[in-house]
Amino acid sequence: MDAISVIRTKRDRGELTADQIDWVIDAYTRGEVAHEQMSSLAMAIFLNGMNRTEIARWTAAMIASGERMDFSSLPRPTADKHSTGGVGDKITLPLAPLVAACGAAVPQLSGRGLGHTGGTLDKLEAIPGWRAQLSNDEMLDVLRDVGSVICAAGDGLAPADKKLYALRDVTGTVESIPLIASSIMSKKIAEGTGSLVLDVKVGSGAFMKHLDDARELASTMVELGTDHGVKTVALLTDMATPLGLTAGNALEVRESVEVLAGGGPQDVVDLTLALAREMLDAAGLKDTDPAKALADGSAMDHWRRMITAQGGDPDAALPVAREQHVVTASSSGVLTTLDAYAVGLAAWRLGAGRARKEDPVQAGAGVELHAKPGDTVTAGQPLLTLHTDTPEKFGYALEALDGGVLVGPEDAAFAATPVVLERIS
Ligand code: URA
Repeated sequence: MDAISVIRTKRDRGELTADQIDWVIDAYTRGEVAHEQMSSLAMAIFLNGMNRTEIARWTAAMIASGERMDFSSLPRPTADKHSTGGVGDKITLPLAPLVAACGAAVPQLSGRGLGHTGGTLDKLEAIPGWRAQLSNDEMLDVLRDVGSVICAAGDGLAPADKKLYALRDVTGTVESIPLIASSIMSKKIAEGTGSLVLDVKVGSGAFMKHLDDARELASTMVELGTDHGVKTVALLTDMATPLGLTAGNALEVRESVEVLAGGGPQDVVDLTLALAREMLDAAGLKDTDPAKALADGSAMDHWRRMITAQGGDPDAALPVAREQHVVTASSSGVLTTLDAYAVGLAAWRLGAGRARKEDPVQAGAGVELHAKPGDTVTAGQPLLTLHTDTPEKFGYALEALDGGVLVGPEDAAFAATPVVLERIS
């Protein structure tokens, strides 16, 4: 077997054989296939796709590249959630302790933000002392004691995906349905969860801009999970506008704590509860009511224990950026557009995100929203507050917002979009 013949097969729109896939994933993980060869193959896959048989084998080969975790010793059923990434998507923060409070074990392996989408680990690292890096034994201990854990995946889990995802990120090959589906599902299956709820984002702030593509991605992932014995369902959810009223690390932690305290923006509460119900249902705990666990403080209690177990201080003051800049409405009317990509890019430019994996992020940076699409606004009213430690970035962030925040006349037609668009099982 050699890399050039595998690349040629896909370049010429052929179907990769099981042997070709097993060999190329293993050889790339071991360093025998060079980055430039894998990047050429990734581009051929990006352009010519893979069928479901190829995707299933590619996923299995990535799972086999590393270790598999086993939570079968836990007394509770396991349930996990994965979002394909969006702007202001802090849902994992309230969701994991909420579902644990309802009786499931939630092993939430999460990632860092890259580009305009935020990362759960960056958000939680805004909490003084909190640690993302846990050994497998530490992770199991937190899961057993608290019921939920949010941490980074260890180096041993799907190492082929770690290498390939970093490569795709710098070769323009991220937005490919076969590559995204296999990347996400190899990690989730290797992680060993019994059930999985996928939050597939659709809209300007998501990888999938169109509903048809999101449907295809969701059904591919549901099929992969089901074939590996993981009960998997997907919700397609709106990412045309940011979730909630904040985009940025400490800002999003603050909003998540508001939700756990029984408040918070309605769209964040609605999506948290919708995903919690799906997770509990998939875990066989459908008689428990997550709304009750939010209202009676038990979800907040689990949050505090989870943060403390990972070295964080749930009572510590969260970092605040040194400088603020307020953007006001230029006219009176209805806020018709608050574009998720524009807000995500602005938050990233203010310092909330990173351009390269090794870059630091500013904990306090980001964008705070004071109105949502459909709200009536008056000229001069604050619409957004930009937060950063590097005020020289304000101009650059404002450029990102250009055309992304639009106020129409008072009688402008505006149709509200529900947060959950579709369910695929
Ligand atoms: N998240 C992943 O883990 N992989 C992708 O390819 C895209 C999003």
